[in-house]
Amino acid sequence: MCGIVGYVGRQQARDIILHGLKELEYRGYDSAGMAVADKEGTYVRKAVGRVENLAEAVNREQPEGTCAIGHTRWATHGGATENNCHPHQSGRVTLIHNGIIENYKELAGILANEGRTPVSETDSEILAMFLDARYDGDPIKTMRECLPEVEGSYAICVLFADHPDEIYIARLGSPLIYGTTSDGAYVASDIVAILAYTDTYSVLPEGAVARLRTDEVRVITFNGRNIKPPVETVSWNVESAKKDGYEYYMLKEIHEEYDALQATLRPRIIHALPDFSADNVEDEFFKQVDRIVISACGTALHAGMVGSHLLEQLLRIETRVEIASEFRYGNPILDERTLLIVISQSGETADTLAALRLANERGAKTLAIVNVKGSAIAREAQRVLYTHAGPEIAVASTKAYAVQMGLIYLIALRFGLVTCRLDEPTVAHQITRLMETVDLIPDILAREKEIEAVAKELIHEEHLFFIGRGIDYALSLEGSLKLKEISYIHSEAYAAGELKHGTISLISEGMPVIAICSQDRLIPKMISNIREVESRGAKVIFITNEDYTGDEGKSQWRINIPKTDAFYTAIPVSIILQLIAYYVSYHKGLDVDHPRNLAKSVTVE
Ligand code: M6R
Repeated sequence: MCGIVGYVGRQQARDIILHGLKELEYRGYDSAGMAVADKEGTYVRKAVGRVENLAEAVNREQPEGTCAIGHTRWATHGGATENNCHPHQSGRVTLIHNGIIENYKELAGILANEGRTPVSETDSEILAMFLDARYDGDPIKTMRECLPEVEGSYAICVLFADHPDEIYIARLGSPLIYGTTSDGAYVASDIVAILAYTDTYSVLPEGAVARLRTDEVRVITFNGRNIKPPVETVSWNVESAKKDGYEYYMLKEIHEEYDALQATLRPRIIHALPDFSADNVEDEFFKQVDRIVISACGTALHAGMVGSHLLEQLLRIETRVEIASEFRYGNPILDERTLLIVISQSGETADTLAALRLANERGAKTLAIVNVKGSAIAREAQRVLYTHAGPEIAVASTKAYAVQMGLIYLIALRFGLVTCRLDEPTVAHQITRLMETVDLIPDILAREKEIEAVAKELIHEEHLFFIGRGIDYALSLEGSLKLKEISYIHSEAYAAGELKHGTISLISEGMPVIAICSQDRLIPKMISNIREVESRGAKVIFITNEDYTGDEGKSQWRINIPKTDAFYTAIPVSIILQLIAYYVSYHKGLDVDHPRNLAKSVTVE
């Protein structure tokens, strides 16, 4: 949801900003803009579409200056037009913003009474106008006075025309980090934007303003206290945020799943048992829990669905999976005997954060599975377990999904052990089976060409179905989401047995149906469902265990899953589905990493 970057220092700023924007493009790519401050005035350039459009103009115009800010936009208020593009200027203020100003209409009303009218349709411009209207020559004072009146979420970088060597920053709800080197100070929505210059950073606290100068960053709270936020070091290097010879990040990230799972799981397996003592998640935390609720959005939600099968079937504990955007409106049952597990790659997703806050308020136990260190969800959950996927850049989530599933398996097994639902030998056996499944990933990737060939057959389709039962239904939902998201082919995921209650009327001659059959005990039932769709003209892609030799209907294609434990088939199957989606999008000639209308982190409700 919009990426922001800024630099003030000894170097020319424009290339640093363009580089940062390129890295942040995953956060939105409706338009991009840049402002470079100089004693002579502030240069502003905006361009609709991708950062390369902005770069073309900036490279032609070569603005000079060592203090600049840049923005890449995912449109919320107002269309993707140049007028709505950031930076927004009002008098002496130039501002970029990530988030949503919820009371912008109220602020606009106050400003209208003062004779001020916006030129764009954005909430962000109102904030620029508000700061300008109250500006008395002291940027820190102005921001400390104005920002407590602003509702919603924001991460902002502000240039004041009479302070051309300084950037002022603040945030509420949206991410913002800053870092310093001997060359100057950097600020960004995400460390990837500035990782080429520094691997240490601080998270700007909420309720504070920071002033960035070449040699100094001063952070001061709204009530006037100077503070020094802790300095963090990134645990991965700049190379891991590069494409590494792959044409798209998505394919690279699929190929990183084995390493990501090893990095997430191995350090937490001690003497063959799951162990979270190094994460400060003590066994006591899992005790006195009667029910588990898992809440998340999109792919993370689907990871939760897969995990819930293990929790209910192996541990026999009641587990509900709730769409985070619906959760708080349903007056959910949450008490001190409920464990809410939230799952989020970015740790920023507004709906997931809201679900977490509600559970915290109602006295439930809360545990977050998060990939981004120090993110809002990680900070607000009572306990956090980090996945170690490294940076996930492609908008379509792949390796983050794999590690989310892996970590829920571990949580389930530790939970089972400490609540005596499972004994040690059972847990140790399950851990062995899980890690054996992870070891099958290279086997799946060796079948990439075969999967690509099937995907190529689908590129001209307009509609498609995924069907499955049990875990395979949860996998169908994810396979379908991935395909829709990046290939723009309409698809539906259906519980295979439910199709005949209405939706089967949509099956027509030649329609592809991807049937996922990884659960031995359910294959005969799935075969009946496959026959039902085939007899209505569907062509079936049969994804099943390699040792299955029984009836497979008249399936057109078959993709084999290496034999593994039924609980963990989600790991190989999801890679097959990710590769199908990737190659359909790729062979359609689409921009796989930047699907239309989307952004990586969804920080609005
Ligand atoms: O950062 P999060 O894991 O909280 O994001 C949740 C969803 O927005 C995300 O998983 C989305 O569905 C993916 N882009 C799908 O590939």
